Amino acid sequence: MSFPSSDHVRPTAILSALLAEQRGLMELLEQPLKVSHAGRDFWQGTLHGHPVVLGLCKIGKVAAATTATALIERFGVQRIVFTGVAGGLGAAVRVGDVVVATDFLQHDLDASPLFARYEVPLYGRTRFAGDPALTALLFSAASRMLAPQPAATGLNGQGAARQFAGARVHQGLIASGDRFVSGAGESRHLRQGLADAGHEALAVEMEGAAVAQVCLDYGVPFAAVRTISDRADDDAHVDFAQFVDEVASHYAHEIIENLLDLLSKK
Ligand code: ADE
Repeated sequence: MSFPSSDHVRPTAILSALLAEQRGLMELLEQPLKVSHAGRDFWQGTLHGHPVVLGLCKIGKVAAATTATALIERFGVQRIVFTGVAGGLGAAVRVGDVVVATDFLQHDLDASPLFARYEVPLYGRTRFAGDPALTALLFSAASRMLAPQPAATGLNGQGAARQFAGARVHQGLIASGDRFVSGAGESRHLRQGLADAGHEALAVEMEGAAVAQVCLDYGVPFAAVRTISDRADDDAHVDFAQFVDEVASHYAHEIIENLLDLLSKK
C-alpha cells in the first residue's frame, strides 16, 4: 500500500453509486483534482477544510468492491462513508426517509448446503457491521438534516428534506444484492426470506455489503447512509429515476456537511 507520509492527514472517502448522488458534493469541493484510476474518476480536494476523495462506484457489488479497494490502496483513505439511495423494505420505511446502516448482508448470496443461506463463505459470518462510532456520527448528521428548523435559521432541514413532511431517520440492517428490486411480490419474497432467517432488513440496495466486506478485510472504518427513493415495488423504477435526479444529491450534500462538522468537533 502506498499511504501518504504520516504527517499527512489521510482523507475521508465519500462514495456514491451515481453521478446524480454525487453532484451536490462536487459543487462544494475546494481545490478539486481529478484522478482517473481503475476505470473510474476520483476527485480529491477539501470539503470545509477536510481532505476528501469523492468516488463514484457505479452500480453493483463487484463495482463497489473495486472502488472501495482503490480508495484504500491508491488513496490511503482513513474511512469510507457511502451516501446513496435505497428501496424501502421495512414496513415503516417510506420514500424520503433515511436509513443509516448498522450492518449489511448480501441477500443474493447462497452457498447452501455448504454454508447457511446468506453466510459469506469462509468468513464465518452473514452480517458485516458498520463502524459503530462513525455510524453514530452519521446518524446524528442525518437526524440534524431532518430535524424541523425554525423558518429563519437557515441551513439544515431547509432543502430536500422539506419535501417529505414527517421524514424519519431509521437505523438497522441493509440488504445488498445485484438486483434492482422492482416488484411488490419480489420485495415481499425478499423480506420474508430474510425474516425467516432472522434478518429484518430496512432497505435494499446494490453495493453496501460489498464495501463493508472490503473495509473489514482492510480494517478501514465504514458507514453508510441511504435515502429511500422507492418502495422496491412495481413503481420502483419510476420513483427511483425521479428521486435520484431531484432529491438524492441534496440529501447527500446536507448529510455530509453535517458529518464533517461533527467530525471536526470530535
Ligand atoms: N436502490 C434504490 N432503489 C433500489 C431498489 N428498489 N432495489 C435495489 N437497489 C435500489
